[in-house]
Amino acid sequence: METAIIKLTGPDLDPLHDAAKLLREAKLVAFPTETVYGLGAIYSDDDAVYRIFAVKGRPNDNPLILHIWHHDQLLLLTTTIHPKAEKLIDRFWPGPLTVVFPKSTAVSPVITAGLSTVAVRMPSHPVAQELLRLTNIPVAAPSANLSGRPSPTRGEHVIEDLDGKIEMILDAGSCQSGLESTVVMVDGEHPLILRPGSVTREMLEEVLGEPVQIASSHPDERPPAPGMKYRHYAPKAPVFLVEGSKPRIIQKINELLKEQSGSKKSVVIAATENMQFYPCEWVLDLGPSGQPEIAAERLYELLRLCDRLNTDIIFIEGLESNGVGGAVMNRLRKAAEGNVIHVS
Ligand code: TXA
Ligand code: MG
Repeated sequence: METAIIKLTGPDLDPLHDAAKLLREAKLVAFPTETVYGLGAIYSDDDAVYRIFAVKGRPNDNPLILHIWHHDQLLLLTTTIHPKAEKLIDRFWPGPLTVVFPKSTAVSPVITAGLSTVAVRMPSHPVAQELLRLTNIPVAAPSANLSGRPSPTRGEHVIEDLDGKIEMILDAGSCQSGLESTVVMVDGEHPLILRPGSVTREMLEEVLGEPVQIASSHPDERPPAPGMKYRHYAPKAPVFLVEGSKPRIIQKINELLKEQSGSKKSVVIAATENMQFYPCEWVLDLGPSGQPEIAAERLYELLRLCDRLNTDIIFIEGLESNGVGGAVMNRLRKAAEGNVIHVS
């Protein structure tokens, strides 16, 4: 299949009419959001939604997020809007927060993987907003990567994964935040973060005026966001994540590098000020310590770069878990699977 690749460079959003037309015809269009690129299909056509799963190689028990541009569209999708959900919507939409609602009968079980709930978000990216406005039907969109690969934060990442497989890719350069949206559920006893993101626990607690829990990602428990159980965000080479105090992290990664004894192509991903301490050809810059927003923006780009470098093994410095750092660590721990090393 020939994929139309449309570069959006300036404020002219005219090409989005074609994109919206394709979506309304139940075709697949990848588009930028402020978090990562999404692979969109209208929610009302099961065949189009099935194709999303097929194209990505996504397990069909992993539900999709619906994207809307107007509050009225939410009323189509859910039976009840909890007062706490209303507060969060008022404060954080449009923006990188996904809220889980009881689903209405209009939402197909293909989208929700059979769950009685549906996840909805209103993106703030101007291209996403205009596309959703022109389409005027809610759009189901997972991240626009092949399943298991790092989420795409640039048009070229989407092209890498999906060229030839979908009708259109809208390329508007880099995404702002670089991590997928925070997913939250509010109708249980306590508000619960199912997937951490750049809307942090502290930000949610401030608006709700009560403690917010973060769902356990213990491998033996059933994850409340089904997607969290899969190995995600992962480059091809094994990732070793080293957590603890900075001097000990540096020491440990140096030991691990020595053990490789030059036989393997190793890459270290480190804070800017620590890069100098690694005697290794490839040291990638995760941004200065204490600025997790920069790490969030760069993370997936760097993991994809490791693939392009044909890396054999990757060592990553852990970050402090406050603020967005918590969401970055969540993704890093998943990328590392079992290979998390604690040093004190
Ligand atoms: O930032 C984002 O959220 C991006 C952009 C494109 O909007 N989308 C994204 O979608 O990250 P995806 O499919 O890669 O991740 C959706 C996550 C999965 O972990 C899924 O299990 C969870 O949301 N999810 C979807 N519907 C749910 C539901 N009804 N209940 C609980 N979790 C749900
Ligand atoms: Mg994804």
